[in-house]
Amino acid sequence: MNQDLTFPEGFVWGTATSAYQIEGAWDKDGKGLSIWDQFVRLPGRIAHGHTGDAACDHYHRYREDVALMKALGLKAYRFSVSWPRVLPNGRGPANPLGLDFYDRLVDELLHAGIEPFLTLYHWDLPLALQEREGWANRDTAYFFADYAAVVAGRLADRVTFWITHNEPWVMSWLGYGWGEHAPGLRDMRLAVTASHHLLLSHGLAVQVLRDRNRDAQVGITLDFNPVYPQTPSPEDQAAAQRADGFRNRWFLEPVVVGSYPPDMGALHAPLDGVVRPGDMALIFQKLDFLGVNYYTRSVVRHDPTENPLQVGHVRVEGSERTAMDWEIFPQGLYDLLVRLHRDYRIPALYVTENGAAFPDSLGSGGTINDPQRIAYLKAHLLQSHRALQAGVPLRGYFVWTLLDNFEWTHGYTKRFGLVYVDFTNQRRIPKASAHWYAKVIAANAVSE
Ligand code: FCB
Repeated sequence: MNQDLTFPEGFVWGTATSAYQIEGAWDKDGKGLSIWDQFVRLPGRIAHGHTGDAACDHYHRYREDVALMKALGLKAYRFSVSWPRVLPNGRGPANPLGLDFYDRLVDELLHAGIEPFLTLYHWDLPLALQEREGWANRDTAYFFADYAAVVAGRLADRVTFWITHNEPWVMSWLGYGWGEHAPGLRDMRLAVTASHHLLLSHGLAVQVLRDRNRDAQVGITLDFNPVYPQTPSPEDQAAAQRADGFRNRWFLEPVVVGSYPPDMGALHAPLDGVVRPGDMALIFQKLDFLGVNYYTRSVVRHDPTENPLQVGHVRVEGSERTAMDWEIFPQGLYDLLVRLHRDYRIPALYVTENGAAFPDSLGSGGTINDPQRIAYLKAHLLQSHRALQAGVPLRGYFVWTLLDNFEWTHGYTKRFGLVYVDFTNQRRIPKASAHWYAKVIAANAVSE
């Protein structure tokens, strides 16, 4: 018999999006350019040469989108603010029309009874700042704090939940280390330098946000891939430990412990001269919550030919995978949440992203049947519930994502949305998973 697993009263059910992936209006109303506006124009970087120029046109359709959220019964909505929309040059005078947009969006959400969770930075750095080395330049951290002050100056009277950064690991490594994301640089030293400045900017912004609103709930969203050794051999276990340091602890520990993980030898050298006295204390601000993004796990083995960590990644055969070719491993979410609670005692956790891309298509009756997404979400909610039972202070869960959107280097080829978007005419059609999620929210429960 199916049993309903009920979530705690007040559990925050939401969806998450990001500015560049949905807003479009890339050059409207005084918006400055971001590194993504430039990067998508480089030949061969994005599938089919897609760009976020129009995306979901959310900039013009936010009212319709908030109405959709309301119809689904969402309690919260996590979105990001585009820094260059607000400060076209990254610093200096603000763009009033840019601020007006977020002001209207927040009012629309509050009016619909939906709690805004505002992310200040989801990878779209103002191009003008990249022209001064972007996150490799320490000044960017201070400009970020000034930007936080501008946004808070306008919205802190209505926005309680603030997230400084989304996935600084991806920003540093994919952006500065491996060149897959904007700004497309390939330099490990720069990646490590950027990682420190991102963390520094987090600390500075937390202070600004608390200054502006004493009741603000402030956190950061990190991406985690729990790491499992391929075999129980001491070599593989040590490799898993190193991979975990690189993938999970590098950003987490400065923020919740106040120091970089000591076992990450090779990564420390580039920090010489970059970390200044007092920086670690600045980064180590009290957090009200940690945002956890979880999609999949890593399985690794010791491999001396892989440098510098000597970690080889193993593809688990026979596992189900999403359209991103990511292994579906719901238990990883449980293991991760329990571990974050056990090892770091963070006061509150939110799953700020979890979801899956599948090749959805519009059925003949005009509906979208996406049973794989429902199964994915359900399995991860069951693991979230298990974590709650184990005492983890999990306060909410945000599905990535509300709308099919611009999935970075994959362009529009990967559909993660609860709502299908027909990009030829911007029509939105809730998928079966959206209707399913609405029922979960209404019941505050998921059935086993
Ligand atoms: C996360 C990003 C988000 C989206 C999902 C699929 O890493 O934060 O923008 O691309 O992955």
